[in-house]
Amino acid sequence: MPADEGSLAHRRHVPSRLIELDSLTDRLDLQKIFERNSPLHVDLGSGDGSFLCSLAQRMPHKNFLGVERLLNRVRTSTRKAATLDNVRLLRMESFYAVRYLLPPESVERFYLLFPDPWPKRRHHRRRIVTPDFVSSIHAALQKDGSIYIATDDVDYFGEIKEIAESNSGFAIGEGDADLPQSKFGRIFREKHAPVHWLELRKISPVK
Ligand SMILES: C[S@@+](CC[C@H](N)C(=O)[O-])C[C@H]1O[C@@H](n2cnc3c(N)ncnc32)[C@H](O)[C@@H]1O
Repeated sequence: MPADEGSLAHRRHVPSRLIELDSLTDRLDLQKIFERNSPLHVDLGSGDGSFLCSLAQRMPHKNFLGVERLLNRVRTSTRKAATLDNVRLLRMESFYAVRYLLPPESVERFYLLFPDPWPKRRHHRRRIVTPDFVSSIHAALQKDGSIYIATDDVDYFGEIKEIAESNSGFAIGEGDADLPQSKFGRIFREKHAPVHWLELRKISPVK
């Protein structure tokens, strides 16, 4: 945790929502982090935290974890989450967090909303959704758990769908859940840009 986050929390007597990791290799102790046992929802690339915090307000009995690699966005999110006991933020690369830090079968639902599309062909390898990523999501999900994915990039959407279809551990749906708008969701709606949704639901314990 950056020093200023800690001192800010201390000065205002606000509990910090930022997770301090003791180790980069041990799995997260979710009971300790949230101080309770509740179903866990994880927003990957949680940006400014507005989606995460809206959901957490709607579902106070569930735990919400935002994973975001940019410090400023994490800081903004912790401020938004200051009054929400069921929200925590982890400043971390999403794939690493899913693969190495989340305990197996610990997540009820993931959200991956508007992952960076890297539209140039030579940058496609930077896209987060790969067969390994999807396998790691599968391992971290509980039975019947799911990941909701949204993108405005039709090419990336096609690639994600192909990768998902090649993993027999998931049933694929359209992800038509009633969810709050994320910041990028709002931006695309204002531009009248079409958004493509997928829901991958875990249907088998092994891939
Ligand atoms: C296009 S923004 C979408 C933000 C948010 N999900 C929304 O819908 O408003 C993508 C976000 O993912 C974060 N991000 C991109 N790749 C990431 C990664 N590998 N690990 C963690 N965060 C990542 C970026 O920093 C950025 O905040």
